Amino acid sequence: MSVRVRAPAKTNLFLEALRRREDGFHELDTVFAALALEDDLELEARPGGELLLTVEGDPTVPADPTNLAWRAADALRREAGQPELGARLHISKNIPSGGGLGGGSSDAAATLVGLDRLWGTDVGPARLHALAAALGSDVPFFLDGGLQRGRGRGERLERLPAPARPLHLVLVFPAFGCPTPRVYKALGPFLPDRGGPPVRDPAALLAGLSSGDAREVAAGLWNRLALAAEAEFPALADVRARLARQPGVVGVLLSGSGSTTFGLAASEDDAARAARDLQRDGLRAIATRTR
Ligand code: C5P
Repeated sequence: MSVRVRAPAKTNLFLEALRRREDGFHELDTVFAALALEDDLELEARPGGELLLTVEGDPTVPADPTNLAWRAADALRREAGQPELGARLHISKNIPSGGGLGGGSSDAAATLVGLDRLWGTDVGPARLHALAAALGSDVPFFLDGGLQRGRGRGERLERLPAPARPLHLVLVFPAFGCPTPRVYKALGPFLPDRGGPPVRDPAALLAGLSSGDAREVAAGLWNRLALAAEAEFPALADVRARLARQPGVVGVLLSGSGSTTFGLAASEDDAARAARDLQRDGLRAIATRTR
């Protein structure tokens, strides 16, 4: 028997890094939003303890035990005390990897949820959440998706009401990636307790989301990581400026640790037109929306 599972991308509409913790991670206050852009997974239970992984659509994604989805499957069968369980995983990639859209984390969460059902391991929500958090800071968000506020490393989650209407975004994928550890490492001088801008809270964003007005949402967009990412990768400032010049784009923000940068559009048509214009200028761009 096999199941198909969809693994959405995410962005962070708000990402405040409050301080660096003793364990090296940063204490966050963030608002995650799942996007319509998604990977597709096909999962099949197999006898004999073998985990087979194939990936199509992105040759840079490893189809081996270093892939987070493979590690998710292995962690689940160990947690269930059934290391003899086997599976075949096939991932069709649409989410660019290493771009701040959480593609690998989402594939891992989809694998946990799908195999838990397929294998009948039924470990329950608390252990599933702990397994997800051990795989990566963004993985727990994807167990539920939608719109959630994350604190701690991003794993302490609180569901938020769906926005009054979906947000229409245009995503630009620069030709380079921004490795997450490098961006966090460069964040030091931009932290609020180290001389960076004062701490922000997501109140303006949350008010904008409940009104559904794109301009109000735009006024609440914030990502402290963008300060560090632009210092490390100055070409991001050019991407930001090109997005901001598009008619109908009312706000621009780096997605997570980048390099994907999104423009928030006033309407679906504005997002589609901006994506077309940017493609014509030679950029890799797509229109999508929150789901
Ligand atoms: O948890 P994850 O493996 O996704 O984190 C990747 C890297 O991002 C960590 O090694 C750390 O450098 C940084 N990070 C952080 N604070 C967070 C999340 C990630 O410093 N809350």
